[in-house]
Amino acid sequence: MKTPRVTARAHTNIALVKYWGKRDEDLIIPMNGSLSLTLDEFYTETTVQFDSKQQTDHLILDGVTQPTTRVTPFLDIIRNQAGITAGAVVTSTNHVPTAAGLASSASAYAALAAAASKAAGLTLNRQDLSRLARRGSGSATRSVFGGFVEWQAGTNDATSYAVPIDEHPTWPIRMVTVVVDRAEKKIGSRAGMQTVVKTSPFYQEWVKKAQADLAAIKSAIAAHDIQQTGAIAESNAMAMHALNLTATPHFTYFTAGSLTAMHCVEELRAKGIPCYYTMDAGPNVKVLCEEQHVAAILTALQAHFDKNDLLVAHPGPGVQIIREN
Ligand code: PMV
Repeated sequence: MKTPRVTARAHTNIALVKYWGKRDEDLIIPMNGSLSLTLDEFYTETTVQFDSKQQTDHLILDGVTQPTTRVTPFLDIIRNQAGITAGAVVTSTNHVPTAAGLASSASAYAALAAAASKAAGLTLNRQDLSRLARRGSGSATRSVFGGFVEWQAGTNDATSYAVPIDEHPTWPIRMVTVVVDRAEKKIGSRAGMQTVVKTSPFYQEWVKKAQADLAAIKSAIAAHDIQQTGAIAESNAMAMHALNLTATPHFTYFTAGSLTAMHCVEELRAKGIPCYYTMDAGPNVKVLCEEQHVAAILTALQAHFDKNDLLVAHPGPGVQIIREN
């Protein structure tokens, strides 16, 4: 017996207030709430079909068969909820310009959660879909929604999920990605945040700051205040990256290219252009700004980076089922 074959599309998101540390490793309950912007340009499309003739799961990612080490435990959660035992065929494609090193677990697990739950016959509301996506990767919980999204930390599986803050922003906000390095990240987010929670003497200070940043950035976003929103996002990102240097062993995602991009943003700001940087678990730098300043920012960055390594993104939509047959 085969279930319907369902395809979902989910967009990646970039956190302006970061999630960096879990209170529950298994259920992926974060230490602090976070807030992100879902982006339209980068997304994953994933097709899932369960087939009772299949003993095991099969994963094809961008045309290449991959191990199912992380996918099978995630599908087991769905199989349990749906009361089925069939193996699944999962076919996933990342739509990121020219392998820019931006393939994201956020869009991957949000798309997988939506496609697999639907194929398995579950009807989940968006809150439950967000809770499910969270089990694959923390940041995926936010990609269920479009625009500005808050992940309410909660304390357990039932209370930890994302909520939309402004799904269709009328604010002409943009995110310029500077592709500093296309290589795979050396320290994954999972391992990085685990080391920090266990060993940084400043971890509790981070949690306090993130909570304060979250409250403040929500007011700044509601007021469409780029200076405030950007300043909070940049400060929050730097605190997260500073924390990594206080872990044992210490580590950093910064490279020479990251610093070049950040200096360039600071110079633009000194000239009166409101633009602000953030970074995640990798060397690429993302610059938050308004549409009217995109051209000047690209011109300045082009003095240091190839034009093809500068990608401009708009706010994007939440997860959608795009095909079912
Ligand atoms: O969900 P993960 O395991 O990919 O972790 C995401 C961590 C950051 O991107 C650095 C921050 C965030 O909130 O997305």
